[in-house]
Amino acid sequence: MRRRLLLAALSGLAVIALEAGPAAGGHETLSILLPASPLEGSRLFAAKGCLGCHAVHGEGGTAGPDLGRSTLNRPLLEIAAVMWNHAPGMEHLFQEKHVRRPTFEPPEMASLLAFLYYLGSLDPPGDADRGALLFRQKGCQGCHALDGRGGGVGPDLTSFSRYASPLFLTTALWNRGKAMAAAMEAKNVPRPSFQGSDIPDLLAYIRGAGGSAARVYAPPGSPKRGEALFAQKRCLGCHSVRGHGGKVGPDLAVQLRGSLMQIAGAMWNHGPKMWTTMAERGVEVPALSTEQMSDLISYLYFFQFIDPPGDARRGSAVYKDKRCGSCHGSATSRVAAPPLAAAVEKLKTPLAVMTAMWNHAGQMTEMMAEENVAWPVLKGGEMADLIAYLLRVQDGSKK
Ligand code: HEC
Ligand code: HEC
Ligand code: HEC
Ligand code: HEC
Repeated sequence: MRRRLLLAALSGLAVIALEAGPAAGGHETLSILLPASPLEGSRLFAAKGCLGCHAVHGEGGTAGPDLGRSTLNRPLLEIAAVMWNHAPGMEHLFQEKHVRRPTFEPPEMASLLAFLYYLGSLDPPGDADRGALLFRQKGCQGCHALDGRGGGVGPDLTSFSRYASPLFLTTALWNRGKAMAAAMEAKNVPRPSFQGSDIPDLLAYIRGAGGSAARVYAPPGSPKRGEALFAQKRCLGCHSVRGHGGKVGPDLAVQLRGSLMQIAGAMWNHGPKMWTTMAERGVEVPALSTEQMSDLISYLYFFQFIDPPGDARRGSAVYKDKRCGSCHGSATSRVAAPPLAAAVEKLKTPLAVMTAMWNHAGQMTEMMAEENVAWPVLKGGEMADLIAYLLRVQDGSKK
């Protein structure tokens, strides 16, 4: 099971190349750039026992929720907040099952979070029945054969049944798109568009109908390489990202939403208009390898999920509201909680703070129950704010 999960980890597209070092810009923008390896994170996910309770798309334990669902489509700090929010529920089970709460070193936490982020980026496995319907409705069957049955206008698609990731399909569709559009015009077939889960569903059908037992996984994408490709392939000449770049096409950091496959689908859907614009401007339609497609769409995907910078002033309010101070550094508390101003001496980065919060969550759960403090659930942005505040307290305490 563990092996299959590791393979599942490779089958998707985006591996976020989180670089080492402090946050960009010199100040505490908490759009953290963690030193992290999602692959290492997938190893830890099994080694630390998470997989014993959590499945990913149906593979793994069932005591906790399946983490392949969409809860993890969010910025990294928000993923840390989700783990924190569910700490008491998990603690309950740790005790019931007599397992020790897994603790982490900060670099391990970084890898784990990168892995969880990566899980959130994967499209759920497709639905082959729906795919079969789409294959007919969208006219694919009229032009393409699958295992000997179907049209002969385009190539037989049986060889695509060995691919475990829809990335291969989208890359081929992009590269052959213009010739396909011409064939469609000649046959008077409307050009299909792709929405929602269409692409994974189509692949699920092709995999089943093609009958190949092989599973070829997609190369993990790197947003960092994607950024470079975006300029090299001249996308940047027409598109801006966050205001920088060309104005011929839409700003892709602002406009694009959705999963990796939905982004690839948007490229296909807007293909004809792009080709015309490219022709007008004397730009060749760039051919993309599977790796390059993977890098490009994971780069574009990333923009949806950058943590907005935390705000120490708001964080101070969160600290009060959530009553962290009723234990930490309080003279009247019966609880021996370390004053956080002192504790954060050793907690110099957002990563160190959230790792400590997770590692100590077990003790805190018990004490909060004793002290009648409700578990402080952190909502959108509050984790980032709180951490910004704690790090500022630390700066202040040094003076
Ligand atoms: C003993 C079983 C158990 C283990 C081990 C465990 N969890 Fe959980 N986890 C749970 C349960 C139960 C919940 C739901 C708790 C609740 O409802 O508050 C949960 C909730 C979560 C959630 C929130 C999911 C959601 O959909 O909101 C995340 C994320 C999570 N766990 C991550 C992890 C990670 C990462 C590890 C390994 C370090 C881990 N868990 C280990 C039982 C476990
Ligand atoms: C009007 C006919 C037509 C329709 C409809 C059509 N295709 Fe194609 N398709 C073609 C042709 C022709 C090519 C080869 C283009 C070339 O020569 O580069 C092609 C190429 C492809 C390729 C690349 C194959 C390879 O070996 O690289 C894939 C994948 C593909 N089509 C999938 C689809 C899917 C999925 C659908 C339905 C959503 C579809 N096609 C609908 C005619 C069509
Ligand atoms: C010659 C200019 C040009 C180039 C080069 C170009 N695009 Fe586009 N792109 C456009 C235009 C114009 C649109 C809007 C098309 C429409 O409205 O249908 C568009 C639309 C898109 C969309 C859909 C946006 C949405 O809102 O759904 C995506 C995704 C996209 N382009 C990605 C890329 C990528 C990736 C590259 C580089 C490989 C690229 N484009 C290169 C002009 C260009
Ligand atoms: C009910 C009392 C209580 C409350 C309320 C509380 N904590 Fe704690 N906290 C503790 C105790 C006790 C420890 C030490 C636990 C241990 O040693 O495992 C601790 C440890 C920590 C640590 C690790 C410190 C270190 O030395 O590594 C951090 C960070 C932390 N808490 C943050 C918070 C934040 C943020 C809040 C508010 C959202 C909060 N705590 C609310 C009791 C509390």
